[in-house]
Amino acid sequence: MEKKFKRTLITTALPYANGPVHIGHLAGVYVPADIYARYQRLLGNDVVMVGGSDEHGVPITLKARQEGVTPQDIVDRYHNIIKDSMEEFGVSFDVYSRTSSPNHHKTASDFFRHLYDKGEFIMKTSMQPYDEVAGEFLADRYVRGTCPHCGNENAYGDQCEACGTSLSATDLINPRSALTSAPVTMRETTHWYLPLDKWEPALRHWILDEHKEWKTNVYGQCKSWLDLGLQPRAVSRDLKWGVPVPVEGAEGKVLYVWFDAPIGYISNTKELLPDTWETYWKDPETRIINFIGKDNIVFHCIVFPAMLMAYGDNFQLPDNVPANEFLNLEGDKISTSRNWAVWLHEYLRDFPGKQDVLRYVLTANAPETKDNDFTWTDFQARNNNELVAILGNFVNRAVVLTHKYFDGVLPARNEMEEIDRRMFDDIRAAKASLSANLDTFHFREALKDAMEMARIGNRYLQETEPWKLAKTDMPRVATILNCAIQLCANLAIAFEPFLPFMSRTLVTMLGIENITWDMLGSDDLVAAGTRIGQPQLLFEKIEDATIQAQLDRLARIKEENKVKSWKPAPQAADVDFDTFMKADLRVGTVLECQKVPKADKLLRFLIDDGLEKRTIVSGIAKYYAPEDLVGKQVCFIANLPPRKLKGIVSQGMILSAENADGSLVVIGPTAPVAPGASVK
Ligand code: MF3
Ligand code: ZN
Repeated sequence: MEKKFKRTLITTALPYANGPVHIGHLAGVYVPADIYARYQRLLGNDVVMVGGSDEHGVPITLKARQEGVTPQDIVDRYHNIIKDSMEEFGVSFDVYSRTSSPNHHKTASDFFRHLYDKGEFIMKTSMQPYDEVAGEFLADRYVRGTCPHCGNENAYGDQCEACGTSLSATDLINPRSALTSAPVTMRETTHWYLPLDKWEPALRHWILDEHKEWKTNVYGQCKSWLDLGLQPRAVSRDLKWGVPVPVEGAEGKVLYVWFDAPIGYISNTKELLPDTWETYWKDPETRIINFIGKDNIVFHCIVFPAMLMAYGDNFQLPDNVPANEFLNLEGDKISTSRNWAVWLHEYLRDFPGKQDVLRYVLTANAPETKDNDFTWTDFQARNNNELVAILGNFVNRAVVLTHKYFDGVLPARNEMEEIDRRMFDDIRAAKASLSANLDTFHFREALKDAMEMARIGNRYLQETEPWKLAKTDMPRVATILNCAIQLCANLAIAFEPFLPFMSRTLVTMLGIENITWDMLGSDDLVAAGTRIGQPQLLFEKIEDATIQAQLDRLARIKEENKVKSWKPAPQAADVDFDTFMKADLRVGTVLECQKVPKADKLLRFLIDDGLEKRTIVSGIAKYYAPEDLVGKQVCFIANLPPRKLKGIVSQGMILSAENADGSLVVIGPTAPVAPGASVK
């Protein structure tokens, strides 16, 4: 049974302000949260959606150091880019703030102090890596050294990228500082810990008994954490960037970023509603929903709730945490460092005005229950076959016909027929399913329900064929088009949470005001006599060339990444000397060289090998102009069995070396030698 509630507080994971946002962020968190918020507003419910940038943490300080600027410069830059992207995609935050704000610093600091005063922390002393030259403690990420497992000399203190093992800085052999390269020493330091073990029974009961309705991926992750047993967690760090620990003698220590960031939800609500924020956090009739990605589950379901329980004072725990899985891009994990992403600001540059298309595709493909893949061909297909061919097509036909037969003035309707009534019944049935899916965070299914309404519209026009009746039965045409335009108005409502830009266009075109969810399913939304706006295409076809340009861009990035991460192949298994000596390697002089017709990779050589002239075919045409090779000396294997390539018999193989990008360089002697000389 749904708990009764008076208001809803929607929180959205605060994105790190160390880079722009990409389609993964939008699909995983902001579009679903926005759909839900818009739906609640249409229902007339009291709802607030809060968000902001997460501006603390080690990666931000690392980036600042690399660029030689301050962390504040970094977060200023990306906070603004992120905020603009959110606005442009219609993510309807009631407030979008940032954790470097004075309001947040005070809120987070007070929160810590309250727990501190209540004796909710324990203190622990441990040895941590220290850079004597910089005079700073080092986060694990800042320590480099030799991996104890594979011998990689450049492993990070938290992970070896060569063998994938996760490490802690003390595991490394010869650890050195990533800041100054100084050898790392160990120093004693003291931190505050939140004893999660103390809250384990309460968390177990709250999640495992009381929230069986949570998504299985969320519930399952919580259960495995709880079953492992919870440990005290450090809530402070030795770092300069962050919220200073508000305790005497804690100079040089800040709150751990995962301690202060979720408190950002509270700060943001406070900033929006300085006088009434408390009802959104402390009244049991408030429902709190956290929209996040799967890597944030433990912090939202275990750590932050433990913080809130420790605080007391009626702070409410989330009612639901509908975390999503990850979105991949063209089969590979999205990665900021490998630039493997579709950045929102770049999408807008390449597809101006097509925010709804991306929102649609990301919802239709949302990683709700498993990781999912974004591909540009799917993007194109959904735009062309669904948005254009189904939704856009129906609205366009209804509006064009109204202009054609009634000069764009909505005709009054006559007695409805069975087919008209059935059409509205179908819409109401789709609405029931749509509402149920939205209520339970099944946004992919919900979008299908909305799309079903557009399909109902197309079927209706197909079956009633008003264009055929125009000569004989104008009163009937009036009824059909009136019904069709009412259906367009229904679409403006049903799609508002998903496609707010299209909805706005439709609302203006139909002259309907103040749409509500209640109105959805009605056959009487646009008054007869209303002047309908000029037909305009809601969506337009996306051409193959446009998609190809995006695929080419990704292919270029993949190529660049390959070169960047290129490593020589590991040494092959031993070969015995006699076997090696069986290969007859020689030098020859190129007498002639031509492209092989109809084979873009192949060159045909005529080689003087000292005894005779032999023909060799080689797959290097992409890397050489044939005339440049004439007169050069090359190494070749003389005693391979002849092989036919494109009808030419090749008598041997020319040796070449392969570059990181796959390009080939022919191998030859460094000074002239007699043709036929053996290579030993
Ligand atoms: N910045 C974190 C991330 O991108 C999310 C923080 S969510 C909050 O993974 F709850 F801490 F705010
Ligand atoms: Zn390793």
